[in-house]
Amino acid sequence: MKKFVSIAVALAFVFGVTLVLAATAPEKVTLKANPKKVVEFPHKIHSDQFKCEVCHHKWDKKGELKACLDCHKKTDGDAPKYYKAFHDLKVDNSCVGCHTKMGKDGKKAGPTKCAGCHPKK
Ligand code: HEC
Ligand code: HEC
Ligand code: HEC
Ligand code: HEC
Repeated sequence: MKKFVSIAVALAFVFGVTLVLAATAPEKVTLKANPKKVVEFPHKIHSDQFKCEVCHHKWDKKGELKACLDCHKKTDGDAPKYYKAFHDLKVDNSCVGCHTKMGKDGKKAGPTKCAGCHPKK
């Protein structure tokens, strides 16, 4: 009986955790569409500070999240190129665009130099 209860508790725990994970932002994401430019993205420190739609800018806030690469292709298409989605300085929601703007405003921001996101091997 004791054993049965502990299995039930363990199962509930596992399911609980799975449900929470499905609904929340990941701790870390590795962007690796370009194997030579792999980026470890500390997702959680971002999603704790900014609204999801800042970056997931085409998300309807209920359905599944699409990868940036689903729309931002390596070559010109309907959406700006893959490279622009992360480096465009003219917008506030690309990685480098946001870090640059916040740095200029004197706020704590992330790296703007290439090696800050693309560490040399
Ligand atoms: C600063 C930008 C940014 C913010 C804010 C942000 N995300 Fe993300 N998120 C990303 C990027 C970039 C990816 C990687 C997408 C890809 O693989 O193309 C991602 C991926 C994800 C994934 C997929 C994880 C995986 O392993 O593939 C989920 C789920 C997710 N985000 C949820 C959220 C939720 C929920 C929020 C708001 C609470 C949020 N994100 C806020 C940038 C952000
Ligand atoms: C469903 C398609 C789609 C998805 C998914 C998508 N984008 Fe976009 N994105 C676009 C389109 C189309 C534009 C052009 C402007 C607009 O329509 O908002 C754009 C514009 C941008 C811009 C402005 C670029 C510029 O040079 O003006 C940035 C930055 C950006 N996206 C980042 C991202 C990131 C980061 C992700 C993944 C977390 C992502 N996008 C996911 C379609 C998408
Ligand atoms: C809307 C603004 C915004 C966008 C978009 C954004 N960042 Fe950041 N990023 C920040 C801020 C603010 C910090 C500093 C957070 C802190 O240390 O509390 C940061 C910090 C970081 C750090 C340093 C983390 C550390 O531990 O010191 C990395 C790496 C990083 N960002 C990568 C990225 C990448 C890669 C993307 C695009 C996929 C991205 N960021 C998009 C605002 C942004
Ligand atoms: C704040 C983070 C950040 C900084 C700083 C940064 N990048 Fe990136 N870069 C990314 C992300 C995220 C990707 C997508 C990685 C992937 O999917 O492989 C990327 C991808 C790339 C790609 C591949 C694009 C493609 O279409 O295959 C090149 C080339 C690149 N970066 C060059 C640079 C150069 C050069 C610099 C310095 C001028 C730089 N990056 C600075 C985040 C950054």
